[in-house]
Amino acid sequence: MRKLPLNTPTPAHSALGVVGTGVEHDSAWLHTSGQARYIDDLPAPEGLLHAAVGHSEQAHAWILELDLSRVHASPGVVAVITAADVPGHLDIGPVFPGDPVLAQDTVEHIGQPLFAVAATSHEAARKAARKAIVKYQPLEAVITVQDALEQQLFVRPGRRQQRGDPDQAIAGACHQLKGQQHIGGQEHFYLESQACLVEPTEDGGMFVHTSSQHPSEVQKLVAEVLGLPIHCVQAEVRRMGGGFGGKETQAAPLACVAALLARVTGCPVKYRLSRSDDMVQTGKRHDFFNTYHIGFDDSGLIKGADLMVAGRCGYSPDLSDAIVDRAMFHACNAYYLDQARVVGHRCKTHTVSNTAFRGFGGPQGMMIIEQAMDDIARHLGKDPLDIRKLNLFGPGRDVSHYGQTIEQQVLPELIAQLERSSAYRQRRQEIIALNARNPVLKRGLALTPVQFGISFTAKHLNQAGALVHIYTDGSIQVNHGGTEMGQGLYIKVAQVVATAFQVDVARVKVSATRTDKVPNTSPTAASSGSDLNGMAALDACEKILGGLTAFASSHWNVPEEHVRFHANQVHIGDHCLSWEDFIQTAYMHRISLSSSGFYATPKIHYDHDAGQGRPFLYYTNSAACSEVVVDTLTGEYRVLRTDILHDAGRSLNPAIDMGQIEGGFIQGMGWLTTEELVYSAEGRLLTTGPATYKIPAVSDCPPDLRVALLKDSPNHEATVFHSKAVGEPPFMLGISVWSALRDAVSSLSDYRFSPPLDTPATPERVLNAVTETRRWVNQQENGQ
Ligand code: MTE
Ligand code: MOS
Repeated sequence: MRKLPLNTPTPAHSALGVVGTGVEHDSAWLHTSGQARYIDDLPAPEGLLHAAVGHSEQAHAWILELDLSRVHASPGVVAVITAADVPGHLDIGPVFPGDPVLAQDTVEHIGQPLFAVAATSHEAARKAARKAIVKYQPLEAVITVQDALEQQLFVRPGRRQQRGDPDQAIAGACHQLKGQQHIGGQEHFYLESQACLVEPTEDGGMFVHTSSQHPSEVQKLVAEVLGLPIHCVQAEVRRMGGGFGGKETQAAPLACVAALLARVTGCPVKYRLSRSDDMVQTGKRHDFFNTYHIGFDDSGLIKGADLMVAGRCGYSPDLSDAIVDRAMFHACNAYYLDQARVVGHRCKTHTVSNTAFRGFGGPQGMMIIEQAMDDIARHLGKDPLDIRKLNLFGPGRDVSHYGQTIEQQVLPELIAQLERSSAYRQRRQEIIALNARNPVLKRGLALTPVQFGISFTAKHLNQAGALVHIYTDGSIQVNHGGTEMGQGLYIKVAQVVATAFQVDVARVKVSATRTDKVPNTSPTAASSGSDLNGMAALDACEKILGGLTAFASSHWNVPEEHVRFHANQVHIGDHCLSWEDFIQTAYMHRISLSSSGFYATPKIHYDHDAGQGRPFLYYTNSAACSEVVVDTLTGEYRVLRTDILHDAGRSLNPAIDMGQIEGGFIQGMGWLTTEELVYSAEGRLLTTGPATYKIPAVSDCPPDLRVALLKDSPNHEATVFHSKAVGEPPFMLGISVWSALRDAVSSLSDYRFSPPLDTPATPERVLNAVTETRRWVNQQENGQ
């Protein structure tokens, strides 16, 4: 067995790589040497065909005629299918209906699949798919959130959360402010585009290799489109080359198309998307239009808040109901909104159906209150950090607008520590002085917090299963419902198992996620992968340990309390056996060395109609302080330094968590700065590749990036080893960069004007903010 190098020392006399040590990712070597197998790397099975779809060129239209004769005649084509060839369900909407696997009579976005082709090569399939002749009767297309709001076009009814009488509280407050913002969407840009490989089995079923965060849903939907019971279909996920939410629902349509083609041809079918097809055809982060109306006192304390968040859902519900819900939950971010109303709209547009993306609507919701914090500060002539600290949840102000009590309040201390370690106050003074001296280059600074609720807001998803086997040589195999997308879930669960048995983590192997090993699994999402699957694995280990302990006690005739597993050994009274010898002995005495495990998150509940409850088991907290420099002649800017302090509870793996924090922050920064999805007025996505869609490059990372985990902060809830989820929360640290950009521009007005800055805050938008700020200053000087 390969010995794993450790990044942080293991406590002396303990097994190696147990929970709390920075063990490297189990596939680190494979990832970095190019040996990790993704779907497209799997050896081609005999007779493999390749899939492609022909998609709509209209945003909203009736299909009058679909002439596929040239597609059939195209070289290499083996089969062509349309909606009429679907033997089972046509609709594969994951939660609510609305997503036909192939369009039937109407199309509702450019890029919607109309028909599918199987051909002898990837290229032949793609070429053939472009040869259809389609006659459309165009219908009115609604493209933007504003248009959808005006026309009251929604994929699901809006919802509201309310406490007290915000209108009266706002009217009665000394100060009132209103604001609005457009928050751009985001392409997932996972390095591995969507892909699957489907093989017909001997008994009329299908085996699906998929790059999906949700293998159980792939299994179910493939079964449904084929009209088969779920047990005829197996789905397997070894790993994804990144998911970020983009493979929670979006992998299933590909698998369904490939399965339909596999059924018609009797051959294995691979379907992978080119980057441009992936960008056009699959859902993205929702863009949002948000507004606020707040009332506050002279100190900046919010007395009443009326918030509206409206997400562009695209043509179908997909996961949008839950995504806009999360935007509503997080519209307060870390702040106590005394009398408050939050309204959330699920806008329907004739664009691709938007989907999960790291933070799941939370980031878009937080943006509105973070804008308000900066605006209050400018209005009162105070430092934005003071306004943020003043409004934090605290003793006596600890219940959110949706009725959940913030039981473990981490942020006041966390922010205080970060304020010190980042030298915020001193740098604030230096920046003010520097800006006064430099007429062109302006620096900005911002420290923003994150409070992110952990649990799926759809209660039933908060469950998980696991399967643990010990083999006769003492090696251990674990399977669980979670999927690996680079986030390090497999190694974390392996560490949990190693800790339970007190053996080196190198003895534990986590095998590919498969629906026939652990059934009815939830998606690996909502940052809850290690919380849920770690606990399920621990449950399985405890069952096995129960049997092993009882055996040791009776076999060696010692009380159970005298059986102890420690550092690859088993101590039984005065006896001491190596783990291997003990397992071999247990096996010879016919003791079960295998068990399943299960976990369901306790305490959570939520009443959607009342808008009240406890949707989250706990919150993960974090904060970032970013400094930027803006060239006020061009709008160009750089991030100079970012300090992050993050609460991972008692971290399962500090090395992995640091990676999640750095990666999440950079991805969040990209969302708010350079990543711009541009649509034409007709609803055509114009940015379909890396040449026009700019994800952060190495050179965009802050040259000075200081990340630390909050010390001595175990989760107060009984999560797996008192850790906290880490996957999504750091994403929202990117807000500090946006706020720092506004700070830099605001310096042009002596911090009196709070410039609007929609996102992504590209240099163009920053320059507009500069222009607007200068205009405001001129108006003031001319006495208007
Ligand atoms: N990290 C990597 N490297 N790749 C990913 O695709 N997805 C993020 C986050 N971190 C992702 C990632 C998202 S959206 C979620 S919900 C969590 O990981 C899911 O995994 P977890 O629940 O095990 O943290
Ligand atoms: Mo993450 S957006 O919950 O997959």
